Amino acid sequence: MIFEVDESAVDSYFTVSIMNLKLLVGTIVYYCWGLLHSSNSYAAFTNCDHALAMNDRVLRTNQFAIQRDGEDAAALGDLFLNEVNELPENSHFFESGAGEAHVLRQLTDGQFLRGKWVQLKSQKITALGIAKPESPSITALANNATRRFRYLEGKYLEDYALAEIGTCDFIFDQYGAFSYTARIDLVIRKYLELLKVGGKMYLDFKPSGIAFVERPNGLEDYLKKIPNIQFYLLNQGSLIRLVKTGTVSPESIPELLFRNFIPSIPPVRVY
Ligand SMILES: C[S@@+](CC[C@H](N)C(=O)[O-])C[C@H]1O[C@@H](n2cnc3c(N)ncnc32)[C@H](O)[C@@H]1O
Repeated sequence: MIFEVDESAVDSYFTVSIMNLKLLVGTIVYYCWGLLHSSNSYAAFTNCDHALAMNDRVLRTNQFAIQRDGEDAAALGDLFLNEVNELPENSHFFESGAGEAHVLRQLTDGQFLRGKWVQLKSQKITALGIAKPESPSITALANNATRRFRYLEGKYLEDYALAEIGTCDFIFDQYGAFSYTARIDLVIRKYLELLKVGGKMYLDFKPSGIAFVERPNGLEDYLKKIPNIQFYLLNQGSLIRLVKTGTVSPESIPELLFRNFIPSIPPVRVY
């Protein structure tokens, strides 16, 4: 059997904790220290290794600020909901950076959203996060024997072999790997390798966390360089809908030189 059910998760919701507060204070101190010690405007983007280590700690301990707008599937819009509904039964839905998988749980339970019933039925479903949250709702999802569901955990998306995840018809990333990675190019490369031709991808993110130095349209300009994709920005530029229209070789996805990093939730990165 390809899909395993993990029954080890126990009863606990993660909340915004003291560790998050420490992280915030640490970030402010770190930022001010940078400003005092450098004359350029990117003064805070110093000591990348330290920033990456802080980010890794957030990811491995699930210390996220989880009270955000937009976790409701309805906020993703009619097109997203229609395309979920239209997925054939034998297709593969992949949520990357699932955390507690708020939207996925709405979609698997089924709900009236924006005037219609929306539900993932017998599709194969993969959720992936660095650390699987110990939450009753995730356990319930995993324990539902009628579902072909699995939660992959333990490593970065960038480090998975393609066969470990399998090809996908639909990729959904809401404040997930795309938001937290230091290497957006590697995440996009992985997604486009996993996505079947004709497959859809939705990336929901905080635009201010994705900094392209002195280039307001940097992300769009970057995506425009990738062949055989169609994409557009929705929800005031915070949601990308992308369709893979043909084969995309990994080499055709330009490398992004990652320059600096400021740890926050999610981090601000400079490319
Ligand atoms: C803030 S939570 C978002 C959870 C959920 N999508 C939501 O919107 O509530 C971030 C999730 O992304 C995962 N994540 C971040 N960077 C990742 C990466 N590079 N590879 C795999 N998972 C990653 C974290 O482990 C976590 O599950």
